[in-house]
Amino acid sequence: MSFASSVAPTTKRLEGKVAIITGGASGIGKSTAKLFVRHGAKVVVADVQDELGHSLCRELDSEDTAFFVHCDVSKEADVQSLVDSVVSKYGKLDIMYNNAAIPGNLNPELLETDPKDFERVLSVNLIGAFLGAKHAARVMIPQKKGSILFTSSVVSAISCGSPYPYGVSKYALVGLAKSLCGELGQYGIRVNVISPYGIATPMLGHVLGNMESSKVEEVTYGGANLKGVILKEEDIAEAAVFLASDESRYVSGLNLLVDGGYSTVNAAFPTAIAKAFQSLQP
Ligand SMILES: NC(=O)c1ccc[n+]([C@@H]2O[C@H](COP(=O)([O-])OP(=O)(O)OC[C@H]3O[C@@H](n4cnc5c(N)ncnc54)[C@H](O)[C@@H]3O)[C@@H](O)[C@H]2O)c1
Repeated sequence: MSFASSVAPTTKRLEGKVAIITGGASGIGKSTAKLFVRHGAKVVVADVQDELGHSLCRELDSEDTAFFVHCDVSKEADVQSLVDSVVSKYGKLDIMYNNAAIPGNLNPELLETDPKDFERVLSVNLIGAFLGAKHAARVMIPQKKGSILFTSSVVSAISCGSPYPYGVSKYALVGLAKSLCGELGQYGIRVNVISPYGIATPMLGHVLGNMESSKVEEVTYGGANLKGVILKEEDIAEAAVFLASDESRYVSGLNLLVDGGYSTVNAAFPTAIAKAFQSLQP
């Protein structure tokens, strides 16, 4: 199977832009960092996984194009110094992609949900994203332009049985983006969300009991609405390039569901009807 992002881009859609990607050392963030660089952006990978982050930036840094900053997004001092270090190196910030997240405890049941876990998940997935937006806006407001992105999830549109803290954090990101879109629009700053369906990243592998990637894809494909395609990290990276680039210069406040129609279609009733018809067959 081939993917658009595995083909060398014919035009550099992010030429001259400076981007921060949180959670950029792994999974969707890592793929996005690679694609942003191929489209001509300078990329700062911010993550708590230092070894992975450094090794990715060594791979990407042909001409001073990528560097790694250790940043725990739940700590304001880390996020503040991340943004300051980017501005002091490149003189500006065009794209802030708030992508870092944790799944939290995996038990989805209410009575098993620990408030401490709830707070921990919100502190990374929601407050971390808020801090990223806040400190990016500090730089983007005087610039009078910028693109702020968040990775939410298909769970922002339809309940998929994910644990409460994770589901709530992802739903809340859409609310955060809508609020920011209003305030920051007057400064020419766009704010958008990307909401993927399941992808075989390290996070989902971990959630499924350290399942290997090909098995994770079997699971996600089995539940998918759109057949003939397996959703990959690179598909989210492509969505991020679009929302980060000037091609989407009038798009703000969007929750872009990259879910193959999963949240639009409810297969339960048609499946029940099909079963009923089958049971009528002699
Ligand atoms: N994989 C999926 O099926 C899926 C589906 C929908 C949404 N998402 C979302 O996509 C985003 C990326 O996740 P992924 O699937 O690529 O998983 P991943 O685990 O590969 O990547 C997440 C990254 O975030 C980093 N991170 C965690 N806590 C951090 C913190 N406090 N500060 C900085 N970085 C931190 C991790 O170290 C990791 O590198 C997440 O927001 C996730 O919720 C994933």
